[in-house]
Amino acid sequence: TFSTASNFDYTANLFPLSSSAGNGYAPLGAPTSAAHQAGGLGGTSLEKHKTLTYLNGLSLIIGLIIGSGIFSSPSQVNMNVGSPGAAVIVWVIAGILAWTGAASYAELGGAIPLNGGPQAYLSKILGELAGFLFTWVAVLVLKPGSAAIISIIMGEYLVRAAIGAEAETVSPWINKAVAIVGLSIITFINALSTRLGTRINDWLMFLKFIALTGVTVVGVVVALTGFSFSGSANSDWKTHSWFEGTSTDISKWAVAIYAGLWAYDGWDNTNYVVGEFRNPGRDLPRVIHTAMPLVITSYVLANVAYFFVLPMAAINTTNTVAVMFGGKVFGPIGALVLALIVSASCFGALNSQTFTSSRLVYAAGKEGYFPALFGRIGLHSTEPGLSATRTRNWFSKRLHNMLGDEEAGLFFTPVNALCLNAALTLAYILVGEFGELITFYGVAGYTFYFLTVLGLIILRVREPNLERPYKTWITTPIIFCCVSLFLLSRAVFAQPLKTLIVIAFVLIGIPVYFWRIHGRDQVTKREVGGLDSKSGWKFWKRWRN
Ligand code: ARG
Repeated sequence: TFSTASNFDYTANLFPLSSSAGNGYAPLGAPTSAAHQAGGLGGTSLEKHKTLTYLNGLSLIIGLIIGSGIFSSPSQVNMNVGSPGAAVIVWVIAGILAWTGAASYAELGGAIPLNGGPQAYLSKILGELAGFLFTWVAVLVLKPGSAAIISIIMGEYLVRAAIGAEAETVSPWINKAVAIVGLSIITFINALSTRLGTRINDWLMFLKFIALTGVTVVGVVVALTGFSFSGSANSDWKTHSWFEGTSTDISKWAVAIYAGLWAYDGWDNTNYVVGEFRNPGRDLPRVIHTAMPLVITSYVLANVAYFFVLPMAAINTTNTVAVMFGGKVFGPIGALVLALIVSASCFGALNSQTFTSSRLVYAAGKEGYFPALFGRIGLHSTEPGLSATRTRNWFSKRLHNMLGDEEAGLFFTPVNALCLNAALTLAYILVGEFGELITFYGVAGYTFYFLTVLGLIILRVREPNLERPYKTWITTPIIFCCVSLFLLSRAVFAQPLKTLIVIAFVLIGIPVYFWRIHGRDQVTKREVGGLDSKSGWKFWKRWRN
C-alpha cells in the first residue's frame, strides 16, 4: 500500500480532508462514505502515518518552490522595473513577502494541524463556503494554471535543447506541443505509481540546487575575471549605474513583484500535509525558516549572476535566460546543459504539482464538493450495471494482467482526479501565454493567500487562547495582508479583464456550493432518518454524479 512509498509518505497524507474525522467541521456526507465503501479504498490506506520529519518537509518545500521561475521570470521582472538594481530589489521584496506568508501559514498549521491547508483554515475560520471556494478556485484555476505555466516553460527549454538558438524564432505552438507531451508523461507516471513520482523528485532536488549554485559561482567568476568561452562577457554592469532607467510606475512594480512571487510560489505546500508531521508545532516553522532564507539567497545571487554575464536588454528578450547564460559563458554545450537542467527542474516541479493537485481534486470528490468519481482510487469502477463501466473494467483488468497486480500499487492512485487535472491544464496551455498566465495566477492565488492570512488575524482576536505551538510576530501577517492587498488592488487597475475573470470564477462557485452541499445534506438526512429507499438512492447518485 501507500505506506511504503518513497522515504516519506506524503501520499496517504494528502488524502481526504474528510478522513480527519473528529475535527468537528469537515462534515462526513453520505457521498463521502459511499465513495469510501465503493472506491476500493479500505480503511488501511487511509491510516494516518505521522512520518514527516524536518528534513522531509524541507525537501518537499524546496523541491516545489524551485521550478521554472528563477530560470524564466527574470525578463518579466526586468522589463517592468527597468533596471538591474530595481530588479534585485523586487526579488528581495517578493522573497520577504513570501516568507511572511509562509511564517503566517506556519502558525495556522500549528494551531489547526489538519491536512488540506487553506481549505481547512478557511472552513474553520470563515465558514465552509470559504473553504469550498478555495477548493473550487484551486482545482479549476490555481493548480492547472500553474501546471500550465511550468509545462510551457519546460516545453520552451526542451525545444531550446533540441534545436539550439533557432528555438527563439519557432512558433509558440511547437513549445506548447512539447509541453503537452511532457504533461501527458507526468500524468501517466503519477497515475501509474506514487512511488515512482516521489523517487524522481528526490533526485531532481539535488540537481536544482547544483544548477543554482553553479550559476552563481560562474557569474561571480566571470565578473571577477571577465572570462568566457564565447567572446567577452557583459560589461554593462561596470559602466552603467545599476539603477539607470528604473521605472517609477507603481503598477509596473506590482506586475514585476507578481513575476517574482511566481518563482517563490509553493511555500504553502507543506501546509497541505501538516497532519502528517511527527511534530508539526516544532518542525513546520523550522522548515519554513530554513527554506525561505535559503531560497531567497539563491534567487538573489542567481539574478546578480545573470546581470554579471548578460546585458539587461538581452535578458529581457527571453524566457530562457538560463540557456542564454550558459551559452554566453560556455558556448553551445553550456546552453545545451543548462537547457536540460532547467527542463528537468520544471519536470520535477510539474511532477510535485501534479501530485498535490490530484490529491486536492481527490479530497474534493470525497468531500462531496465534486462528483464522487473524482474521489476514487484505481482504474476499476464499481458502479454496477453501466455498460461504460463494464467496458472500462474489462480494459483495466487486461492492463493489470499485463503490468501486475493492482494491489502491488500500479494504478492504485486517484486516476480520475489526475485526468481532470490534466484536462484542465491542457486547456490553459492551449489558451494561455506565459506572461499573462503568471499575472492571472498571481491575482487568483494572492486573493486566497490574503484571505487565509487575514483569517489568522481574525483567529487571534476571536480565539486568543487557542493553543498555538508557534506564534509569529503579529506584524508578520499584518505586513503580508497589507502588501498583498496593495498588489491585488494594483492588479485590478492594471489588468481589469483578468481580475474580472478571476472574480467570475469565484462567484460561479457560490451557487455550485449550495447545489453540492444541499444535495449532500439531503442524502445525509435521508440516510440518518432511515427513509432512504435503495432505488431512490441509486437514482439520486447517478443523477448527481
Ligand atoms: N515556484 C515554482 C516555479 O518557479 C512554481 C510553483 C507553483 N506551484 C505551486 N504549487 N504553487 O516554477
